[in-house]
Amino acid sequence: MTRQSFQFPGGSTDLYFAGGFSHLKDITDRRNTVLITDEQVFALHQKRFRNWKVIVLKAGEEYKVQATADSIIEQLIDMEADRKTTLVGVGGGVVTDITGYVASVYMRGIRFGFVPTTLLALVDASIGGKNGIDLGVYKNIVGTIRQPAFILHDLVFLNTLPVAEWQNGFAEIIKHACIKDPAMFRELQEHSVEYYRKKKIPLCKLIQKNARIKIRIVQADEREQGDRKLLNFGHTLGHALENQYELSHGQAIAVGMTYACRFSEELLGFRRSEDVIGLLDQYGLPAYLSFDHKKVMKVLKMDKKREQNLISYILLERIGKGVIRQIPVDQVSAMLSLI
Ligand code: GLY
Repeated sequence: MTRQSFQFPGGSTDLYFAGGFSHLKDITDRRNTVLITDEQVFALHQKRFRNWKVIVLKAGEEYKVQATADSIIEQLIDMEADRKTTLVGVGGGVVTDITGYVASVYMRGIRFGFVPTTLLALVDASIGGKNGIDLGVYKNIVGTIRQPAFILHDLVFLNTLPVAEWQNGFAEIIKHACIKDPAMFRELQEHSVEYYRKKKIPLCKLIQKNARIKIRIVQADEREQGDRKLLNFGHTLGHALENQYELSHGQAIAVGMTYACRFSEELLGFRRSEDVIGLLDQYGLPAYLSFDHKKVMKVLKMDKKREQNLISYILLERIGKGVIRQIPVDQVSAMLSLI
């Protein structure tokens, strides 16, 4: 099992790229560890949880709320978890987010790690140290930034991943290609979800490439003062749509990326929107959605990236070159209504 350590300003993370769940016991002491997972992962992989203390959550973004965090904390108290306890989130982004959040606040902070079980969690949600919960339609409005001690990859979990979840992961992969990696954009154009589902080596390489893209960005800007904002490409509008229209995260940010491309045409002369839309379609993701602009603008104005009257919007100068632009709220509203 190969381990690579990545240093971040706020801590370091050991990444076990080709690890395997059976190695978890070598990374963290079973007696002082509590695994947190959801009902879906637990039902599909029950055997793997044998001999571990486990807290099983209801599955779904609607449970990424303070009430779930409180219930985990109550169970940790019942288990007599203390400052030596390690929490390990075994699941997708909801599980990793809430595990990191609870571990950051329980007894003012305990050790935690992740075993990401979805493509999205492997390439995005498990990396970066941001963790938190939603409140109503406001996604991740409460949370902390704290790096996991370790991330253990086991791609066997992907064997049971529904197609919709593959599409969610590919939305983030396409995002990475758009903002940072034109060669990966071309590679993705040549393949499909089906290809990567069947071909384990290209899939493994793709996952590692994406994990490294995100790690590099976060290493340089953990607190999101500059370039880390690029990772919000498609997310400003995407988050505003996601909970209001019951879209998956991937669908919401796919629509967000399309609009960001159109804004980029308008403001930066970007000329490759059709290629981005074509790639989204190739990976089963939508480009457009008809939505109530007023309703969406209300949530968009609450975006954490807004300062005064300006929204930090991520645009593309070209494929592989994302840029941050401050756009007045009124201009965003006007451009949205023209598309
Ligand atoms: N945990 C996801 C991130 O930090 O971006």
